[in-house]
Amino acid sequence: MKKEHKTTAHRGVSSLAPENTMAAFKLVKEQGSQWIEIDVQLSADGVPMVIHDQTVNRCTNGRGKVSEMSLSQLKMLDAGGWFGDMYVGERIPTLAETLMYVKEAGHDLNIELKVYPGDNVHALCDKVKLVIDESEIPLSQILFSSFDNEALHQMMRILPLVRRGQLWQKIPDDAYSLLHKIEAYSVHCDYRFLTEQKAQLIKEAGYQLYCYTPNFPELVEKHWQWGVDMMITDDPKAYALTAD
Ligand code: G3P
Ligand code: MG
Repeated sequence: MKKEHKTTAHRGVSSLAPENTMAAFKLVKEQGSQWIEIDVQLSADGVPMVIHDQTVNRCTNGRGKVSEMSLSQLKMLDAGGWFGDMYVGERIPTLAETLMYVKEAGHDLNIELKVYPGDNVHALCDKVKLVIDESEIPLSQILFSSFDNEALHQMMRILPLVRRGQLWQKIPDDAYSLLHKIEAYSVHCDYRFLTEQKAQLIKEAGYQLYCYTPNFPELVEKHWQWGVDMMITDDPKAYALTAD
């Protein structure tokens, strides 16, 4: 029988194109994922931007903290050349641009709310809500995730119809109370720290269980048997090839 191995393209198809760019998002469908995961944080002038690190240093030709640069400063940077010459000209997408694409393409979107030390969680949540409202994307296409339980709690208050997923590297012993607090839909954990017992507890409690970021299917063969519902991976195609 054909087994379904569901995947989320982590930062887009980040094995083939520069992470968190439109180029990486446009590969998702052909690489076999319905879901896209992105990282979101605010520019200095309060615009939700799609970028992972606290600084632009690794993934652009610029230097500096995202939170200290304006939208126009961030948009001047090249976000593709570091990955390969054919991607020169890629820009850091805004959340608004990404939502427009996702809505049109019919993907599901996992918006990871990135909270770095000193960030204003409420400002991030408010601005993300505003952009989502303006996009008119069906809320059923979105899932929020975050390592920051407070960010998810705030999202529950201001945009309750969007599902919430708690990120943990390792699922803690007090998981239930934190999940209960945010009325969570899902748990997203590092596949390297998941145990069969923890997986069972999460599944028995009725949550979706996702693992990040296994890039080789052979690393997680037993995880599927433990009940993991989806892998968040840089290389979704690898799972399409092995799903039988
Ligand atoms: O959503 C899973 C994964 O993206 C969490 O870690 O650092 O890749 O954002 P990170
Ligand atoms: Mg992420």
